Amino acid sequence: HRHLLGIEHLSQSDITAILDLAETYVELNRQSAKHSDVLAGLTQINMFFENSTRTQASFELAGKRLGADVMNMAMQASSIKKGETLIDTAMTLNAMHPDLLVVRHPQSGAVDLLAQKVNCAVLNAGDGRHEHPTQALLDALTIRRAKGRLHRLSIAICGDVAHSRVARSNLILLGKMENRIRLIGPPTLVPPHFREFGAEVFDDMREGLRDVDVVMMLRLQRERMDGGFIPSEREYYHRFGLDNEKLALARPDAIVMHPGPMNRGVEIDGTLADDINRSVIQEQVEMGVAVRMAAMELLARNLRSEAA
Ligand code: CP
Repeated sequence: HRHLLGIEHLSQSDITAILDLAETYVELNRQSAKHSDVLAGLTQINMFFENSTRTQASFELAGKRLGADVMNMAMQASSIKKGETLIDTAMTLNAMHPDLLVVRHPQSGAVDLLAQKVNCAVLNAGDGRHEHPTQALLDALTIRRAKGRLHRLSIAICGDVAHSRVARSNLILLGKMENRIRLIGPPTLVPPHFREFGAEVFDDMREGLRDVDVVMMLRLQRERMDGGFIPSEREYYHRFGLDNEKLALARPDAIVMHPGPMNRGVEIDGTLADDINRSVIQEQVEMGVAVRMAAMELLARNLRSEAA
């Protein structure tokens, strides 16, 4: 592959290859000397048109640990503010010969469009409600390490599925790896057409969580609700917030996940989120750096073989 735009373009063996390579980077990242030179001589530009903590920091660290020259564009201070378009901005940076362009954008499809215009490899760091492929890959690595496998698991994805690129990429990835997926949330936030992904749909946490292996919570994405349905936080937490009482219906060894940023007391109980016996939220962040190192290494190999 030239780019990493979405899980929809990856096969089962592509996914396994990224996760296997990421395992080696989990080990490297736990050492005091975290350096490799697999991206030495390559230039990585990070363009985030939407806020980020985890994705931006981990792509930057991933590039630096692999020896790339990494530049973070401060989009708030860029000429986008003077009316320059996304494509003109990308073409301007393209003229400086980057090798890897990491892009987050609020519009679904914007990153795919940009990838068609530039000469370098493009990695989608989240586009609108479309895809967030490296998030799904880091979630997959976290699940595989916790459960010892990434197939034939029962996985609940809970909350604001409708506005979530994380849910969409996870649905595609976990479906490709032959897992059983349940979507749980109010019908306004879990539209029935999501059944097309092969998932079962529930509007009651107590029914949906029964005997699942993995509970993946999602943030209420108010910034994408366009003035439509905005639930009251108290009511939402009562019905759909994850606490120990609801989690008791899942398998006793079920893990709790959240992509972050999380709203404690809205979609998840804060004490449960911090419970290292159940919650793998910090492992997800750790896996994020390793998965992004692996994804960039594989794209760089392709760039080098194209150039050879
Ligand atoms: N999970 C995730 O994408 O977090 P950020 O928005 O902080 O990058």
